[in-house]
Amino acid sequence: MSNFSAPDFLKQLKWRYATKQFDASKKIPQDLWEALEDSLILTPSSFGLQPWHFFVIENLELREKLQAHSWGQAQVTECSHFLVLASRRSVGEEEIDQFLKHSAKLRGEEIESLTPYRDMMSGFIGHMDESQKAQWAKLQTYIALGQLMTSAATLGIDACPMEGIDANEYDALLGLPEKGLKTSVACALGYRAESDKYASAAKVRFEKDQLLTRL
Ligand SMILES: Cc1cc2nc3c(=O)[nH]c(=O)nc-3n(C[C@H](O)[C@H](O)[C@H](O)COP(=O)(O)O)c2cc1C
Repeated sequence: MSNFSAPDFLKQLKWRYATKQFDASKKIPQDLWEALEDSLILTPSSFGLQPWHFFVIENLELREKLQAHSWGQAQVTECSHFLVLASRRSVGEEEIDQFLKHSAKLRGEEIESLTPYRDMMSGFIGHMDESQKAQWAKLQTYIALGQLMTSAATLGIDACPMEGIDANEYDALLGLPEKGLKTSVACALGYRAESDKYASAAKVRFEKDQLLTRL
């Protein structure tokens, strides 16, 4: 059950837009930001493997360096919180073991009882080559991005998802290769500037019957 009515929920989804200009003087309060961090952590992933890491870029100097590799987009430095979503370069037996150990501990289960689950995951991942594994991990981060954007809209926080970034340059600046990670996508969060004309622009979406079929 939820306290949210369908019209209230849709109102927030219509209110959100990819924010181009943030009001740099407005910061997301700590309790709301923590809720957004938790929303990232609560994101579901395939098999629950969570092949990702999230970086909150607080350092303004670092943000300026990242902005230079983000088509110069102002959101990187003007937003309240700038987030980089990174994915694992590879996923293998080590990551599966780590996940199963954690799961057994949290659920009070014997790790041996999870052997069929381990076999299923190993089979799925074992069929992929390295680039397919990296691609699969990257796809998972988009689930986190979607959950983050919906969470932000629900809480009345503006966001701009950002693929207009040079992932290799981001990797170098954040030292990701040595951590086994790769930049996937970024997201700027904060509060819209009054001058952002995109806030009042009509939503451009195809008609529902072009995108959705009931069978
Ligand atoms: C994965 C992804 C990457 C995006 N990258 C950028 C970006 O780099 N810069 C930008 O201004 N908007 C970016 N956008 C915003 C889209 O252009 C925008 O969401 C789309 O046009 C729909 O408009 P709306 O979000 O305002 O409803 C991105 C959106 C998504 C989902």
